[in-house]
Amino acid sequence: MPENTQAQIHIIAGARPNFMKVAPLFHALKDESWCRPVLVHTGQHYDVNMSDAFFKDLQLPEPDHHLEVRSGTHAEQTGRVMMAYEKICFEHRPDWVIVVGDINSTLACALVGAKLGIPVAHLEAGLRSGDLTMPEEINRIVTDSIAQLLWTPSPDGDEHLKAVGVPDSRIVRVGNIMLDAYEMLREKIEGAATYEKLGLEPGNYGVVTLHRPSNVDDAEKLTILVDRLASAAERCDLVFAAHPRTRQKLNDFNLMKRLSKTPGIHLVEPMGYVDFMGLVRKAKLIITDSGGIQEETTYLNIPCVTVRDNTERPVTVTDGTNRLTSPADVEAAVDKIIGGDWPKAKKIDMWDGKTAARVVASLKAHI
Ligand code: UD1
Repeated sequence: MPENTQAQIHIIAGARPNFMKVAPLFHALKDESWCRPVLVHTGQHYDVNMSDAFFKDLQLPEPDHHLEVRSGTHAEQTGRVMMAYEKICFEHRPDWVIVVGDINSTLACALVGAKLGIPVAHLEAGLRSGDLTMPEEINRIVTDSIAQLLWTPSPDGDEHLKAVGVPDSRIVRVGNIMLDAYEMLREKIEGAATYEKLGLEPGNYGVVTLHRPSNVDDAEKLTILVDRLASAAERCDLVFAAHPRTRQKLNDFNLMKRLSKTPGIHLVEPMGYVDFMGLVRKAKLIITDSGGIQEETTYLNIPCVTVRDNTERPVTVTDGTNRLTSPADVEAAVDKIIGGDWPKAKKIDMWDGKTAARVVASLKAHI
């Protein structure tokens, strides 16, 4: 099909958790003759190890458009993405906009598309934590209410959308796209042996990632977390891949020195996708407040302690290896895992590495 008759599909990527969702979809769409995927990077994440490393690992090309919005308050960041993305749409109006996940860039680009009358599709639609203090929950609700096509990862997603009156015709269950990225790079991940570089034995260490404002912006909570991690590290080495926000807060609250001097704690920079998953797949346990890692650990059947009061991914608790824990109970959870007292994961429908193909089929049917 000649290029000028191809549907132009904007795929929006903004921050770290978007990149592994965007990559399988981009690769699947670029092989289709009826469309041209156009990669738009908002620049919400901009550090080499928060962005460039992921583009490289996931074999993504340079973005067609880079908005370079960087950090700011929620209003600043959302507003800057909207202004910059609207300009792109005026100059290169796409036929569809695809947004993924729940970050500020997801919301901002969905708003721009919807207001310009460009159809918007949301990949990872319908997830709800029920917690409106989470900026991501607001982003999810608004994005889902203005997107025309809602691709859900699990039945709870469909149910949340139906409960607010979204017609069945707009909801398509496609499964979990993150796991497509894992399958796409499985060989490289299995060859990564990141634990060796850190001097650790496979199956004998934990991995920690914490970045939610609710955990790291509160000095009291972060102090409790550092305390519990330090005690748990006496029994299980812990690799703490600290997000820039967390590093900043550890410094602000004078906790950095203590953490970095604790035996058994390996404080490292955030890693690229392949190295990180290479570390996770051989871990004994994970302690996190991330969304995606709750899913990856269930897929890999690795115990996951999620330091949150709620989750928008309940299937990882009902059918998976994920358990919600308060900061004070982290050490006890680690002990349970070491004692072998932790649930095993069941196979979850459509978490199979074939989600991108289902998304492509759904999009084609709607164009
Ligand atoms: C964002 C997303 C969150 C996602 C997380 C993954 C929203 C509302 N939040 O939160 O859903 O789970 O990304 O990482 O969209 N910073 C850097 N370098 C970077 C990026 C950020 O130094 O490349 C610093 C910023 O200056 C800021 C802090 O990290 O001080 C937080 O960044 P921000 O993008 O605002 O939010 P996240 O906490 O990363």
